[in-house]
Amino acid sequence: MKVLAICGSTRSVSSNHHIIKAVTTMATGIFSVELFDGLMNIPPFNPDQDLHAESAPPAVAGFRHLLREADAVLISTPEYAIGVPGVLKNAIDWTVSSMEFSGKPVALITAGTSGHKAHQSLLGTLLIIESRITADAQLVISGVKTKVSDSGTITDPATADSLRRLITALTAVVKEEDIALMPHPTLF
Ligand SMILES: Cc1cc2nc3c(=O)[nH]c(=O)nc-3n(C[C@H](O)[C@H](O)[C@H](O)COP(=O)(O)O)c2cc1C
Repeated sequence: MKVLAICGSTRSVSSNHHIIKAVTTMATGIFSVELFDGLMNIPPFNPDQDLHAESAPPAVAGFRHLLREADAVLISTPEYAIGVPGVLKNAIDWTVSSMEFSGKPVALITAGTSGHKAHQSLLGTLLIIESRITADAQLVISGVKTKVSDSGTITDPATADSLRRLITALTAVVKEEDIALMPHPTLF
């Protein structure tokens, strides 16, 4: 089982990057994680370049290919100005018409000072583009600086437990075990 991880933070030393690395270690023997490191190379979304798959910029085509190849996607992101980081939302916008997230099992983590607003916003986006997400496959880690050390250790036992539950939950979605998916939201 292959999971593509996307970090919503482009910082060199990022709590969200640490969380992805922690999940990668915890999931050893369950699934492998490939980190997508091309978020900064994805150009601003332009519907004019989105009319035909062949006209997509190369970085977008590469991103779409990695998504299609993955059994599941793990997103860990901060919140900026009570919203989703622009680089992450921009990359996801490129997949709305091409539908790589449709039917894709996704685990969503939002880790920041608070994180709740970005989490709700991104959850709504992922559900409207038909990602498969369960309640246990999504998690807000507020006060992340007190729970993940600068060297990347998850210092809060409850957070470590939640990450283990998230790994189990994401695996269950991929295996289509007895799961309750979060409902598709109303469009407008
Ligand atoms: C420009 C900016 C805006 C931010 N706005 C918010 C916010 O609205 N809500 C929040 O919970 N954290 C906010 N933060 C704090 C980040 O979520 C926090 O620093 C987080 O650890 C960054 O993630 P990273 O360590 O993975 O880069 C903001 C940080 C920056 C740089």
